[in-house]
Amino acid sequence: MNKNKKIKDIEKKVQNCQKCSLYKTRKNVVFGSGNINSKIFFIGEGPGKKEDETGIPFCGRAGKILNKLLELMRLKREDVYITSVLKCRTPKNRKPKTKEVEKCSFYLEKQIEIINPEIIICLGKTAVDFIFKKFKIDKKEKMGKIRGKVINMGNKKIIPLYHPAYAIYKPQKFNIMKNDFIKLKEFL
Ligand code: URA
Repeated sequence: MNKNKKIKDIEKKVQNCQKCSLYKTRKNVVFGSGNINSKIFFIGEGPGKKEDETGIPFCGRAGKILNKLLELMRLKREDVYITSVLKCRTPKNRKPKTKEVEKCSFYLEKQIEIINPEIIICLGKTAVDFIFKKFKIDKKEKMGKIRGKVINMGNKKIIPLYHPAYAIYKPQKFNIMKNDFIKLKEFL
């Protein structure tokens, strides 16, 4: 089965997902978008209001910031693949519960397996925790310390970065975020 078909099959499964109670309040599942042949794979936390309304990841305020950061790397959305740990919005965008992450993990695991990216960029703590657990990376540093560090795991590079939404609450961090993205250009 080719990559495209495999991804479509998983997407079909997630559209009907009722593994946790978030299906009751979602308007749309937000599976992921972009280039399934890209070597760069971004992971956020979970859909917000706009994403829930449209089914498109990072299309709201955080998404506009992500687009700006991508431009600094001379990349367009179509050049990368973008998804999140959770595929359904949490009520009032609260932090995902451990059980929700566990139930939803099947989909992200499959996306990583099928797309098989070289570079996994974790946007924020929820994505970092997921990927560190998956790859058994035993680092306990806070985001401020670990961001921008490149962790080599076999043939993959894991790179934790601040979540783009962080710039909404802490605009003074935007310069650090921009520099982190600019530095990534050397891996492309
Ligand atoms: N934040 C995320 O983590 N993912 C989205 O898709 C949108 C906002």
